[in-house]
Amino acid sequence: MIQLTGVSKTYNGYIKALRSVDLTVEDGEFVFIIGPSGAGKSTLLKILTAEVEPTAGTAEVNGYSLVGLKASDKPYLRRTMGVVFQDFRLIDKKTVYENVALAIRVTGAGNREIREKVDSVLKIVGLSHKAKRKPPELSGGEQQRVAIARALVNSPKLIIADEPTGNLDPERTKETMRLFNQINRMGTTVVVITHEKSVVNDMAKRVVYLENGCILRDATGGYNQ
Ligand SMILES: Nc1ncnc2c1ncn2[C@@H]1O[C@H](COP(=O)(O)OP(=O)(O)O)[C@@H](O)[C@H]1O
Ligand SMILES: [Mg+2]
Repeated sequence: MIQLTGVSKTYNGYIKALRSVDLTVEDGEFVFIIGPSGAGKSTLLKILTAEVEPTAGTAEVNGYSLVGLKASDKPYLRRTMGVVFQDFRLIDKKTVYENVALAIRVTGAGNREIREKVDSVLKIVGLSHKAKRKPPELSGGEQQRVAIARALVNSPKLIIADEPTGNLDPERTKETMRLFNQINRMGTTVVVITHEKSVVNDMAKRVVYLENGCILRDATGGYNQ
């Protein structure tokens, strides 16, 4: 669960990226966060992952308070969530299998568990047949799905994707959204950040509209309704 109350973030003492944001996301929800470039979307993501601490307000994610969170507790918070970055952040020299396996190896899991979980998430994203390939040999959409598999492999309660369809054509974009929908139906909370209104209008989901650091609208349905 995500609970932000009065969360503000000011960079360098004067750049107001978020202004008193109140946001609650219950377990099992699917939420789009949309808004123009510079609205504060990535800052919101960084607050949720504890990369950035709020300048004011209180924030809690999956039972961890993000204000004053100890550095030694951050890895535990981060194991409750999977993050899909816009630029994928895959390791080009490692295979698809290894890219996904690394995320679970750091938790101290044994080889057998690693193999089972990696095989299972590669199946979910439809990439079992490309496990031995390396990211540069894959299309943009396939690299995206490797990044999603990696985010899923530790069975997180929450998946957050920042502009996951920014580099994809409309058909791949639809496929990615279907995949997030499937992941959500499996019980994972999904938060998708995007600046593309067309992406959200196809899906009858909750849409939080952010502009200039403020939530201007929070409702279920397409953005234009
Ligand atoms: N590390 C930073 N230092 C200073 N200003 C920043 C930093 N990160 C973001 N900003 C500013 O904060 C505002 C919100 O940025 P961001 O959260 O990246 O928005 P979005 O992801 O919606 O495009 C912008 O004005 C941006 O220039
Ligand atoms: Mg951004």
